[in-house]
Amino acid sequence: MAISKEKLKEDIGKLKAAKNAVILAHNYQIPDIQDIADELGDSLGLSKISRDRPEDFIVFCGVRFMAETAKILSPQKRVLLPALNAGCPLADAIEPQELRELKEKHPDAWVVSYVNTSAEVKALSDVCCTSANAIKVVKNVPVKKIIFTPDKNLGWWVQKNVPQKELIIWPGGCYVHEKFMLDDLKGARKNYPDAEILVHPECHKDILKEADYVLSTSGMVKRAKESAAKQLIIGTEAGLIYRLKKENPDKEFYSLGAARICSNMKKITLNELYESLRDEVYEIKLDSDIIKKAQLALERMVQYV
Ligand code: 13P
Ligand code: SF4
Repeated sequence: MAISKEKLKEDIGKLKAAKNAVILAHNYQIPDIQDIADELGDSLGLSKISRDRPEDFIVFCGVRFMAETAKILSPQKRVLLPALNAGCPLADAIEPQELRELKEKHPDAWVVSYVNTSAEVKALSDVCCTSANAIKVVKNVPVKKIIFTPDKNLGWWVQKNVPQKELIIWPGGCYVHEKFMLDDLKGARKNYPDAEILVHPECHKDILKEADYVLSTSGMVKRAKESAAKQLIIGTEAGLIYRLKKENPDKEFYSLGAARICSNMKKITLNELYESLRDEVYEIKLDSDIIKKAQLALERMVQYV
C-alpha cells in the first residue's frame, strides 16, 4: 500500500531531526518539495546557505552540479542528491579536455565558468559565476581576455554589459530556456500590455534584448515582490511560478508562451526525498584535489562581487 503524503512528510521530518539534516531546494523543484524544504533559492543563494548552515547532512533537491557545489564549499559535510540521475545537459556541454585545449590556445585568458558545470570543469576554472552575479564577476576579473563557459546566451548578455572585456564564449545552451521564442514575448506584450516581462539570462539573445528585466530565479522572486505591476510574465522554468504565486497572491503570473519544464528538476518527489534521508543516498563524492581547485574558483566568485 502506498504511504500517504502526510505520513511521508511526518517521516521526513523525523529523519531530518534524527540525522541533523537540512533540506535545500532549488526554485524549480515540484511544489511538494518546495513546501517541505528548509531553504529555497537560486544557485547563488543555495551555495551560500549550504556553506553557512550548521547541519552535518545537506539533502540537496536540485540537480547534480548544485549538490556538487555544496560539497565543494563544505567538504566536511555529507551531501545527498535524492535522484541519482538528476543532471543538467548545460553543465555537460563542456568536457574538461575541451576546456584544457581552449586554455592552451588562449594562455593569457582567465576562465570564468558558470556554476552550471561539472566539478572537474570548475577545478580548471579561475573563477565561477552564477546568473545572479556573472556581470559583476566578469567586470572584476583582473584581465581583459576571458574564456566564458558553458552558456552562450549568458555569455552574450555579460559581453553586452561589460564591453571593456573580450569574451571567448563556449557555445553551450539550456534546452529548456532556448524553447522560449521571440514570438512568445511579442504575444505576451500584445495580450498583457501592462505586464512586466522577467526573463532568465539562459534565454535566446533576442529575448534578452526585449525583456524588461534579465534576472536569476531568486532575482525574479525579489523583483516580483517589489514591482508595482499586477501582472508578470516569466521567462524561466515553470516551477518558479508556483513560488511566485504563493508569495504574491495579489498578483498574476504567466509563463512566457507555453510552460517550459526541466525534466531533471522534477525527478525528486517526497518518496525519493524520504528514501534519500533513510538510506543516506546518493552521496556526492569528489576527489580531494578537484575539491581544492574548484573551491578556489568558487571563493574567488565571492571575492569578486
Ligand atoms: P538560477 O541560479 O538563476 O536559479 O538558475 C539555475 C538554473 O539552472 C537555470 O536554468
Ligand atoms: Fe540545467 Fe536548463 Fe535544467 Fe537549469 S533549466 S538545470 S540549466 S537543463
